[in-house]
Amino acid sequence: MNKIVKECVDYIRSITDFTPRAALILGSGLGAFTQEIDHVVCTIPYKNIPGFPVSTVSGHNGRFIMGYIDDIPVVCMDGRVHYYEGYTPQEVVLPIRVMRALGAEFLFITNAAGGIHSDYVPGTLVLVRDHISLFVPNPLQGPNDQRIGTRFPDMTDVYDPHLRSLIQRAAEYEDIPLETGVYCQLSGPSYESPAEIQVLKVIGADMVGMSTVMEAIAAKHAGMKISCISLITNMAAGISATPLSHEEVKVAGLQAEPVFKRLLRAAIQTVKEYKW
Ligand code: HPA
Repeated sequence: MNKIVKECVDYIRSITDFTPRAALILGSGLGAFTQEIDHVVCTIPYKNIPGFPVSTVSGHNGRFIMGYIDDIPVVCMDGRVHYYEGYTPQEVVLPIRVMRALGAEFLFITNAAGGIHSDYVPGTLVLVRDHISLFVPNPLQGPNDQRIGTRFPDMTDVYDPHLRSLIQRAAEYEDIPLETGVYCQLSGPSYESPAEIQVLKVIGADMVGMSTVMEAIAAKHAGMKISCISLITNMAAGISATPLSHEEVKVAGLQAEPVFKRLLRAAIQTVKEYKW
């Protein structure tokens, strides 16, 4: 374990011996999912963890919540940090490495995204099937910690196909429409220009956001089974005529909250059916 990860884990282990099976990242405006945790074992503010990055964005809390969803032990990130806040790519992915080191095998990522695909209206839920990371630095740059993962990890199936098919089935069972698409991370914090969105469309992106891909690369490197669900909060720049705002993103998050909560709960339960 690298030194910074170890310091974080040592601090957390001084508080709890809880071993999560699944890790969960709650995106912009989706923090209310923490109410779905049936039995909270402990809450740890990021600011208390030595060397841990703390979010500066409104709508993002900053704490780990550990507990059970049904009987699945989960560590939930209530708030995450973004590259645009000025953190290095390695700092952005530190929480992933910490949750992995605590024992999490699965990673469920959620995010808010702008819809590029013409079918995606605000409120659409999309299961990510692949990503485009070409516009942000790779978080694995620098010395490789062979104990975490290999120097040149494969990125063919970052969003685990078996987990995806279980989640699709769970969504059908819950009668929740769930699209499948490709997510592209840009650095932000400015939203894209309409011309940039046209470029992303041509290269195969269905949606765009300012998070997730760095974390997914680090999690894949560390051998986690990953899935990601995006909530389309707005149509991307130029796809609709209205200018974008963070307020709009937060409002759409709030409106979709009940259905998103239900989907996420169902998605997490697929861990029980997962066949290794
Ligand atoms: N662009 C980038 N990030 C986003 C968007 C968007 O349109 N919507 C929500 N996050």
